[in-house]
Amino acid sequence: MALVKDLSIEFLGVKCENPFFLSSSPVCSNYEMIKKAFEAGWAGVYYKTIGIFIPDECSPRFDITRKEGAVWTGFKNMEMISDKPLEKNLEYIKRLKEEFPTKVMAVSIMGSDEEEWRILAKKVTEAGADLIECNFSCPQMTSHAMGSDVGQNPELVEKYTRAVVESTHLPVIAKMTPNIGNMEVPALAAVKGGAKGIAAINTIKSITNIDIENLTAMPVVNAKSSISGYSGAAVKPIALRFITQMKQHEGLTDIPITGMGGIETWNDALEFLLVGASNLQVTTSVMQYGYRIVEDMISGLSHFMEEKGFDKLEDMVGLALPNIVPAEDLDRSFKIIPKIDYDKCVGCGRCYVSCFDAAHQAIDWDKENRKPIINDKCVGCHLCLNVCPVLDCILPGEVKFKEGRQEHEIEMKHKYI
Ligand SMILES: Cc1cc2nc3c(=O)[nH]c(=O)nc-3n(C[C@H](O)[C@H](O)[C@H](O)COP(=O)(O)O)c2cc1C
Ligand code: SF4
Ligand code: SF4
Repeated sequence: MALVKDLSIEFLGVKCENPFFLSSSPVCSNYEMIKKAFEAGWAGVYYKTIGIFIPDECSPRFDITRKEGAVWTGFKNMEMISDKPLEKNLEYIKRLKEEFPTKVMAVSIMGSDEEEWRILAKKVTEAGADLIECNFSCPQMTSHAMGSDVGQNPELVEKYTRAVVESTHLPVIAKMTPNIGNMEVPALAAVKGGAKGIAAINTIKSITNIDIENLTAMPVVNAKSSISGYSGAAVKPIALRFITQMKQHEGLTDIPITGMGGIETWNDALEFLLVGASNLQVTTSVMQYGYRIVEDMISGLSHFMEEKGFDKLEDMVGLALPNIVPAEDLDRSFKIIPKIDYDKCVGCGRCYVSCFDAAHQAIDWDKENRKPIINDKCVGCHLCLNVCPVLDCILPGEVKFKEGRQEHEIEMKHKYI
């Protein structure tokens, strides 16, 4: 039987049975699908952004990036907010909250002016929402009064957040756009406007592929295309970076963050928890695999906690933050020379080629025996370790201190999978 630990965690005063939520998108846009998601084990949803504006969507509207055998390394969508009438969405939200009182119903809203933000906040509060998420970040709205154009403008973020906060008693979360250098700026503006939490990240403006048949980008909409939002595994590094930077900013350290962008597995989820997100959201991997992936996330996280002796999920939140430091604070006094396990080496030569063509010509090649030998020119960059196709064949080995540097204890990474 699968091991299940208590993964419950409080987020903005709301009890969540686990940290796993569907992020605002087509995966949680009506009654039937959210009912199925709740039954599958998701603790809550951020209901697909609702507004007074009803979008006129294009077709097709999705594209993917791939690399060799891997499909869906990234996902592009040109979709806007809910295409359903406001009243229909409110009816679904009310019904779902009544039928699933222990599940968390966060609702994403988007207005085009202050008055619309107020109306939407009031209506979703009356419908029974537990949390309100303000969408300041959709990158493909056809109106510039909405979406990521708003999220890049701190004055508007503060103004609209305040309008929402004044229209509800519920905790308000501001969802950030990554289409900006410093997310701290709009995040601080949202907090000034009364937001209690920050959501990050929405999709990144992108062109995934150029179609050489129609000479436009993908997807092709009657021979034209547009720049629009990128999500999925490819954006995880960017999401983790933004969340870390916000959590390390003195004005935001104590602001709870709901994190998303490329969460596919329990391991991805753990990484977001370790940089300080205490609630997690998922869309792209659900679009690819369906709601059932939450079972693996729950099971994987449970096993990890059991193995490492964590009783509470919150004890893991932010544990990596003190160890992510500015570049100038890194210990640069040593180099770690890789060690080749000749029993595992298959003599493919990839380490030799990469080191010669892209590093420091620090690998000599024994042609006779198809054997790589590391020489004195090695700087310890670990390119060879990263290109070697055999698991654990090249691992960190001897620590060599640079000339004139004081020797001291060095902690190393030993497991790469
Ligand atoms: C098809 C699609 C539609 C989306 N619609 C919305 C939306 O209505 N509101 C919103 O705040 N975010 C929307 N998003 C963004 C997601 O909520 C999420 O922030 C983003 O996709 C990153 O998470 P992921 O990598 O798990 O997909 C949408 C994403 C996709 C792929
Ligand atoms: S660590 Fe870098 S320099 Fe040293 S052998 Fe590997 S690739 Fe070459
Ligand atoms: S890349 Fe790995 S397997 Fe291939 S030659 Fe180098 S050490 Fe051996």
